[in-house]
Amino acid sequence: MECFGVVIVYGLNYTFNYTINQTRGDESMISQEMEKELNEQINRELYSSYLYLSMATFLAEKNFDGMAQFMKVQAREEVEHAMKIYHYIEEQGGRVLLKGIDEPPSDFTDPLTIFEKSLEHEKFVTKSIHDLVSLAVDKKDYATKAFLDWFVTEQVEEEATMDGIVNKLKMIGDKGHALLMIDAQLGKREGH
Ligand SMILES: [Fe+2]
Ligand SMILES: [Fe+2]
Repeated sequence: MECFGVVIVYGLNYTFNYTINQTRGDESMISQEMEKELNEQINRELYSSYLYLSMATFLAEKNFDGMAQFMKVQAREEVEHAMKIYHYIEEQGGRVLLKGIDEPPSDFTDPLTIFEKSLEHEKFVTKSIHDLVSLAVDKKDYATKAFLDWFVTEQVEEEATMDGIVNKLKMIGDKGHALLMIDAQLGKREGH
């Protein structure tokens, strides 16, 4: 009888442990290393959003309302990038692990340096995406590789946009009228 009880208790215990351990993490279709790196990328995308928001507030303070609007849209897009990865990790049965976001710079000098900094930042993000692609290929993780293709294309676009604006701002220099024109033009950017 006693023995039977033990068997029942053991059985319940087994069921309990089995149930608890059936989190999605156990059935993950991506490797732990890939999961870790994708989580890092979520952090980088959210930092990007933070950086562009910080730039937006500085630009608005300097009365470049159009450029501020451009940066706010950019910031929203970066959150969308983070969420794309968030959903991908979930879809693959992985675990999203959010970490603290670094404080972005808050002191800038002028629109040209802001857009130069943005271009430099996008180049850094491109490199991190390329590193993720290399890892996916190394791991023969073709699903993640296919998922990342969208980001590779997006980064080409992001760099081209920032580069275009930097070039225009260099041409303009400190000609006030032209600066206001480009400000108005950038303000037309709408979120999707
Ligand atoms: Fe991004
Ligand atoms: Fe970006």
